[in-house]
Amino acid sequence: MLLEPMVRCGEIISEKNINDADKAFLCPYLFTSVPKSFMIKGDGTKRIPFIVNESHVKGERTMTATKGLEGIVAAASSISSIIDGVLTYRGIDIDDLAENATFEEVAYLLWYGKLPTRSELDGLQKQLDEFAAVPQGVIDQIKLYPKDTNSMAALRTAVSSLALYDASANDMSPEANQVKAIKLQAQLPTIIAAFARIRQGLEPVAPKQGVSIAYNFLYMLTGKEPAEVAIKALDQALVLHADHELNASTFAARVTVATLSDIYSGVTSAIGALKGPLHGGANEAVMVMLEEIGSAANVESFINNALANKYKIMGFGHRVYKNGDPRAKHLQKMSRELGKLTGNMELYEMSVKIEELVTGQKGLKPNVDFYSASVYTTLEIPRDLFTPIFAISRVSGWSAHILEQYQDNRLIRPRADYVGPVNAKYIPIEQR
Ligand SMILES: CC(C)(COP(=O)(O)OP(=O)(O)OC[C@H]1O[C@@H](n2cnc3c(N)ncnc32)[C@H](O)[C@@H]1OP(=O)(O)O)[C@@H](O)C(=O)NCCC(=O)NCCS
Repeated sequence: MLLEPMVRCGEIISEKNINDADKAFLCPYLFTSVPKSFMIKGDGTKRIPFIVNESHVKGERTMTATKGLEGIVAAASSISSIIDGVLTYRGIDIDDLAENATFEEVAYLLWYGKLPTRSELDGLQKQLDEFAAVPQGVIDQIKLYPKDTNSMAALRTAVSSLALYDASANDMSPEANQVKAIKLQAQLPTIIAAFARIRQGLEPVAPKQGVSIAYNFLYMLTGKEPAEVAIKALDQALVLHADHELNASTFAARVTVATLSDIYSGVTSAIGALKGPLHGGANEAVMVMLEEIGSAANVESFINNALANKYKIMGFGHRVYKNGDPRAKHLQKMSRELGKLTGNMELYEMSVKIEELVTGQKGLKPNVDFYSASVYTTLEIPRDLFTPIFAISRVSGWSAHILEQYQDNRLIRPRADYVGPVNAKYIPIEQR
């Protein structure tokens, strides 16, 4: 059902003017229609966000909040879409891209809105080559980090410090910002690989020229030529993680740069948001769970116990996809193929068993993070680098969104539903 926009955003309306059925479809800010599923709560009751009703008019409350901004349309974007459970980048189905595109083509697509020609792709490769080495000052700082530093905290700090070494950090021209987007894309893999080696007492390996980001990252991590199958698997994982509409870290990036702060600040905010286990941190948390379970024989008792105690099973569920994450099947296939190739199917088999139980009992489907854990482990990537790898990919999406935000900027400043005390008075300290 489509409702005619009845009122403008923020206009006060009376609840009496809208019948119950219509309320369920009202999009809080724009008052346009939204999918019914967004508005129906798990218990079947309706969620009616941000309707200003009679009592609000009397001034008792000014507005009500939607917890977690669920179902709220907070920006217009032409970068990626999730419509009826289908994810596209610039209109191209993720399944098509996962099967056919390289990560560099996808990054180009996200930034420039079209797939690159051969010469445009060569041009991008040249820029990535040019920028891949990080300033020595950043490497020197990484050497000072405590050896047991959280890898995402290290990445967040190092990316923030990149700005200190970039003379164009505060140049807000579109051309300068586009170049900085490519710089960040080139430098994140170098930072993560350098961090991983430095904490083992090894010297960083300089990036190679003329190779893909997937190749370069594995090469800088180990100092060895990576196997073709590992490059292909990582490249596909990077394609799958590159962008995802208004996810938490992308929103964080957009909020930051909507103050007209610089791109480094935006990406630093995004890394901080990605770190959490409800977002990018879930892939590492999945591996922690797999390690804790130990073997396929323990899966059933572990999962039954976890569900009985209402624990969240990492790598399952999604705010937007309620019928399954379209990216998960590609990672599952990759996990199975890598398991076969290495002759070790244990992690894959455990994962499948977990999926059967969680989907069977809770109806929850695996998300992008679930099979990423077994894929990265089979590629012999240390567990705490899983979320940084997510960042290597997602920085393409973050920066595309940042550039889009700058193009048509308005400060992002929502309101809060105040639920604290009213009419309170200052009490002198002696009287408290
Ligand atoms: C992704 C996620 C944060 C979405 O959260 P959300 O939209 O706020 O959904 P909620 O956390 O409100 O969950 C809704 C219901 O499903 C349950 N649920 C959601 N994800 C669950 C999970 N992974 N395991 C068990 N139960 C889960 C919740 O307990 C809740 O049940 P209730 O209504 O009985 O209380 C959530 O599914 C989650 O925490 N997943 C695990 C972390 C993860 O994999 N994150 C990566 C996302 S790509």
